[in-house]
Amino acid sequence: MLRTHTCGELRITDVNKTVVLTGWVQRLRDKGSLMWIDLRDRYGITQLFLEEGKTDAALLKAARALGREFVVKVEGTVAERVSKNANIATGDIELKVTNIDVLNAAKLPPFTIEDETDGGDDLRMKYRYLDLRRNPVRESLLLRHKVAQQTRSYLDSQNFIEVETPVLIKSTPEGARDFVVPSRMNPGEFYALPQSPQTFKQLLMVSGFDRYYQIVKCFRDEDLRADRQPEFTQIDCEMSFVTQEDILTTFEGLIRHLFKTVKGIELKEVPHMTYADAMKYYGSDKPDTRFEMKFAELNDVAQGKGFGVFDSAELVVGICAKGCASYTRKQLDELTDFVKKPQIGAKGLVYVRCETNGTFKSSVDKFFDEIELSRFAQKFNAEPGDLLLILAGEKDKTRKALSELRLHVASQVGLRDKNKFAALWVIDFPLLEWNEETNRWHAMHHPFTSPKPEDMPKLQSHPGEVRANAYDMVLNGIEIGGGSIRIHDRNTQQLMFKKLGFTEEEAQKQFGFLMDAFEFGAPPHGGIAFGFDRLCSLFGGAESIRDFIAFPKNNAGRDTMIDTPSTISQEQLNELGIAVKGTIK
Ligand code: AMO
Repeated sequence: MLRTHTCGELRITDVNKTVVLTGWVQRLRDKGSLMWIDLRDRYGITQLFLEEGKTDAALLKAARALGREFVVKVEGTVAERVSKNANIATGDIELKVTNIDVLNAAKLPPFTIEDETDGGDDLRMKYRYLDLRRNPVRESLLLRHKVAQQTRSYLDSQNFIEVETPVLIKSTPEGARDFVVPSRMNPGEFYALPQSPQTFKQLLMVSGFDRYYQIVKCFRDEDLRADRQPEFTQIDCEMSFVTQEDILTTFEGLIRHLFKTVKGIELKEVPHMTYADAMKYYGSDKPDTRFEMKFAELNDVAQGKGFGVFDSAELVVGICAKGCASYTRKQLDELTDFVKKPQIGAKGLVYVRCETNGTFKSSVDKFFDEIELSRFAQKFNAEPGDLLLILAGEKDKTRKALSELRLHVASQVGLRDKNKFAALWVIDFPLLEWNEETNRWHAMHHPFTSPKPEDMPKLQSHPGEVRANAYDMVLNGIEIGGGSIRIHDRNTQQLMFKKLGFTEEEAQKQFGFLMDAFEFGAPPHGGIAFGFDRLCSLFGGAESIRDFIAFPKNNAGRDTMIDTPSTISQEQLNELGIAVKGTIK
């Protein structure tokens, strides 16, 4: 190595040692006769010190010629600092410089390489390699590394085998659009990049691997959000000869292990909630359970009193915001505006203030007297000082809107603390959901998910009521993982494809390989995949998964650093047998 120590290593016990450090010039402070330089590498910062009269004049001149982000090799003697810095590990010492080699000069960086940078998102993405020099970003990737290491360690201890599956595969319908890759050797034909290794991991079970895992890249051409990237990573797992309970126990074990080893947190036992309850009490299949604020249904106390909005509604439902009766008119108007936003879609908001003196004040006083309003309050076990927020309308839409309002209010009153963690298993998902656009049933998880045997008779008569052996793990209101017990016999799989609107030929063409495999001794099996980036960002207390990915895409799916997607030459297109409309560079 060019160095004897890293920039995070030297301590007071090293005083008087002659050492060599390498790194980047973070900051220069030149006070005339005294000069300090902060030298940075991955491990920390060490202060360099030069003094007129004591340091060689040529060396001082060389130091003055340095600029931010120059790469240098520095030799010197470790000395105790006069004014110590308790904020950094090397804060007791500094290096009295005896030699500086410039290994590489650097242009002035387009933004400051500090914890708090002046660089905006776009600039940071364009110069991502500079952004990655900043502590918070590097620490996020370090955290990611730890989560990966601990995942491997846990799964290995449970006898899981890491197997790589192909990246050039066949299109499989898992909800999102595929990214496709043209095949030069098979003109007019395409590979698809995997949305997940789902069918391969099932085939590995047929092969007898028994327990598989892979930390694997998946690709989905879908609209991007803070917690979605077009290429992202899953901790993908599959097990044979298991029940749903076995899978939940094994992977609750993984999450608890990760919390313990990465965060030093003993996670409480993860509760189970049915999908039906999640929708009824939280209006969401991924409720944030860091706080209560459960829904209460009010139809029986709210209807039949002459208030048309309530009377005509399928569902009257509300939440109780603890201690919020003091909300001002302006704050309540803001909440009303919030629920009326097109993406929330409610027509209005009814409030009931449970005043501290025991009386009630509501936006519907015309229709409800004190006694009637007190019945509302009882439904929530509300106390004086609480605020009831009520929506009415069509069941599913109203629940969804109230779920958004619940999160909005919780954020306002500080209930969504990123240092607090609440995990939850949501179980018993419906097998199918009706899609208005395509006018057919879609698999809610994916087409390989097993219906609950006891619900099978309803598959013909009431397909929407059939529950699946499918489960999600939710952490702080974010879906971090999902999986299911699979179908493992040809007949049920064929029936499922039929229900999803596939003809027998289509099913055979797309999934014949899997159904054929089921005829050669497929064991009962099931599995799960965790969103690795999401898990890391939650551990890191961040909203966006971007900073936990070394080179992420922006919201338009672009990598602005390497400038892609980009056009390709006519020659390449010809070779691939692809005709593209418009101009080709
Ligand atoms: P699913 O589609 O639920 O299941 O995906 C599993 C988990 O992956 C994460 N995830 C994403 N993370 C970032 N960006 C995205 N675009 C993105 N899409 C999904 C989520 C999600 O819970 N093959 C099945 C798993 C199985 O049945 O075993 C699957 O892929 O955290």
